[in-house]
Amino acid sequence: MSTATPETGASGAGREAPARTRAGGALLLDGKAVAAKVRAEVARRAAEFATRHGRAPGLAVLQVGQDPASSVYVRNKRKSSLEAGIVSFAHDLPPTTGEQEILALIGALNRDERVDGILVQLPLPKGVDADRVMDSVDPDKDVDGFHPLNTGLLAQKRPRLRPCTPFGVIRLAQEYGIALTGRNATVVGASNIVGRPMALELLLARATVTVCHTGTRDLRAEVERAEVLVAAVGKAGFIPGEWIRPGAAVFDVGINRTAAGTLVGDVEFEAAAARAGWITPVPGGLGPMTIAMLLSNAVDAANLRAERGKSVTR
Ligand code: GUN
Repeated sequence: MSTATPETGASGAGREAPARTRAGGALLLDGKAVAAKVRAEVARRAAEFATRHGRAPGLAVLQVGQDPASSVYVRNKRKSSLEAGIVSFAHDLPPTTGEQEILALIGALNRDERVDGILVQLPLPKGVDADRVMDSVDPDKDVDGFHPLNTGLLAQKRPRLRPCTPFGVIRLAQEYGIALTGRNATVVGASNIVGRPMALELLLARATVTVCHTGTRDLRAEVERAEVLVAAVGKAGFIPGEWIRPGAAVFDVGINRTAAGTLVGDVEFEAAAARAGWITPVPGGLGPMTIAMLLSNAVDAANLRAERGKSVTR
């Protein structure tokens, strides 16, 4: 089992700022470095849990089908779990698996005492009702933070298990001392996975939040006002760099593969970096942060369940 390095320190107060690297005029937000710090904290907390409870936290990762991008993410999630001292339960189901079979497996994982977190990799095959499947995960094991109960708690300013990518944006901002309170924060994209919970996280941080989507009339004007910009559209270079407000903090959630095979974000990186105050690279920004926050959620879920003294009977 891996253990935390002493330099990582405790979570919370007294965070040391990460190394400062510039791209254009902007400071690069090094998601890889901060994720390594979070994973080291998780490893320490997982080891503490194991000492206290006689077993390591457990994370089940379920994939249906073989979507190539999903397979890469799932492999990374499982590998990172093991490295952090979290037991990984792998469930790879054929693409023809029916909804009832998926629901039955989730029911079994909900009842399994060794499993603290359940992640169902999206997208699910056509014909499977993804909402029905995601809603069937025990909210106390919902390490994705996608269950309506967890979304509702976040909306009501009492977060429990928080969606990993938005939580990763908040953690990166904290690590680099980027103030969110009172800032004009604009989220581009309104998906259930990123855009919507991102808006709730920014609201929790007391930013003034705008959410842009396909119904937005003047996207450029909204982006130009943003002191904090989160791009979560899934289209390469969707936001021109010249739209970025000088000095803005830019968090690019997009991971898009170009025809040439390289990975790029939703924001035109070079031109944006020339104007921004801070910017996340792609890759090496929110990708590694998302996995790190997932692992953190898995240990949170384990502690949450242990505190409830729960013998799961559902
Ligand atoms: N597919 C793409 N991103 C995610 C994620 O954050 N969680 C899950 N479960 N599936 C995804």
